[in-house]
Amino acid sequence: MPKDSYKINMQPIVNPEKIVGFDRSKKVLEKALNSGISLAFDDVTLIPNYANFRLNEIDTTTDFSRNVKLKIPIVSAAMDTVTEHKMAIEIAKYGGLGIIHRNLDSEMQAHQVKLVKRYLNGLIEQPAWVRSRETLDEIRQRFGKDEERRFHSFPIINEESKLIGMLGEKSFKFGEPHQTAEEIAITEMITAKEETTTEEAYQIMKENRIGALPLTNESYDLKGLYVFSDVKRIIKGSGNYNLDKKGRLKVGAAIGVLDDAFERLEKLIETGVDVIVIDTAHADSLDVLETLERIKKEYSRGDRIDIVVGNISNGKAVKRLVDAGADGIKVGQGPGSICTTRIIAGTGRAQISAIYSCSKEAEKYNIPICADGGLRYSGDITKSIAAGASSVMLGNMLAGTEESPGKNEFHKGRMWKSYRGMGSLGAMQEYKGSRERYGQKNTTKLVPEGVEGLQPYKGFLKDIIGQYIGGLRSGMGYAGTKTIEELKLRGDFDRITPAAREESRPHDILITKGAPNYQITDEENGYE
Ligand code: XMP
Repeated sequence: MPKDSYKINMQPIVNPEKIVGFDRSKKVLEKALNSGISLAFDDVTLIPNYANFRLNEIDTTTDFSRNVKLKIPIVSAAMDTVTEHKMAIEIAKYGGLGIIHRNLDSEMQAHQVKLVKRYLNGLIEQPAWVRSRETLDEIRQRFGKDEERRFHSFPIINEESKLIGMLGEKSFKFGEPHQTAEEIAITEMITAKEETTTEEAYQIMKENRIGALPLTNESYDLKGLYVFSDVKRIIKGSGNYNLDKKGRLKVGAAIGVLDDAFERLEKLIETGVDVIVIDTAHADSLDVLETLERIKKEYSRGDRIDIVVGNISNGKAVKRLVDAGADGIKVGQGPGSICTTRIIAGTGRAQISAIYSCSKEAEKYNIPICADGGLRYSGDITKSIAAGASSVMLGNMLAGTEESPGKNEFHKGRMWKSYRGMGSLGAMQEYKGSRERYGQKNTTKLVPEGVEGLQPYKGFLKDIIGQYIGGLRSGMGYAGTKTIEELKLRGDFDRITPAAREESRPHDILITKGAPNYQITDEENGYE
């Protein structure tokens, strides 16, 4: 038990590593749920609580799914105006995760994932190697001076294709042209297991003062190579990067159901994608459950990959999805800024209640919930987690940035970028993926469930993400919760009245300057 656990309010002891029983002090949410009232972000406020820590001790690490960790609880939406490789790279550099959308054909989508994976070159999976009998002269002819300078280190392979040594900088400097690789190999070779992570490789190379670390299996087959300069750059320059075991940025990709899912899956898995998201508007349905079950059955080998499935908003769906194999569940039906599902189909559930209803069930199985859609301010991230989510998915709050796909447009003297629903008429007309997401693959008369529009250009992600995380950290401080797990467990709400909502926003002032984290509404601006 950590020293600084809660002496103050006599709540159950919290192990920050793991939730031990969801302490549902969230009476307001429970009561609303039991009375059939669904609450939205603006219906509640988090109750401040004693903070027995300082803000710099706050830890925002969390899980997107059973095996996919995040350093910040932010995931960028699988939408064609939000996440392609540029967004996915940038958000992973801040510790989050991008989900590449599926309005791209399977080749293009896999290519987008590869671009993210190649961004940092941690483990060289197929390093250039030399044969034991090759002379220095032959090696130089084969690779050229530039390659020699660039690589410095070459594994040496014998006739049986086993690793027998390494050529290093000194081998090239002091070797004679007629000498073989075997003869000029560096005297001591240190190898590591093929599962070695970038961090472990860094430590091994540092301790042993070596410039390269070959990885092998037990039979000495060459399985990869780490180069110290690359690894150091990653470790040092990447305090917050969300990295996979090979030192590459993490990334996810969206798939549909049935044929679409299986067509994409093989190609995506080959790229080293970290997590697959079955991306549908109604996950508690036959095709989705069947697809999930089949994937889990067919991919339960060594290369098993986490599958997150969504969306749902009713806790009753959780068990069915968990039984079918879900490693994470996405929650949100109709809260999105571009969604019209609640109006067109008359269904869905206000997001705070949806998160609570689902996370309450998911906690029994230790499955993380991602709250998807409807967030407008950083405070909504804090509220989502306090209602039980482990992470949030953002569309609107990330659209309009430099990294989101699409061109900048001038309109009424301002710069904008387009943002549209995946179920908007435009997206549905253009893409099968969008039609399928709303169960309209075989219809000619499309019934959209989203709109198309513009977002004010927001500049670079780096300029806004700090505000989002800063707001969350501040909220965690007010709530007296040092970790995301604690906020999930102990965050408690008051339900607020329309008068309280009015009091919560800036009032009785003509706002002349917005803030980087608060957009002035038309009403506040005095426009009708
Ligand atoms: P925000 O509020 O962040 O919401 O813009 C993004 C989420 O909304 C979902 N989404 C849609 N829902 N019709 C819908 O009902 C649509 O056209 C649509 N497009 C996206 C999706 O879950 C996304 O992450």
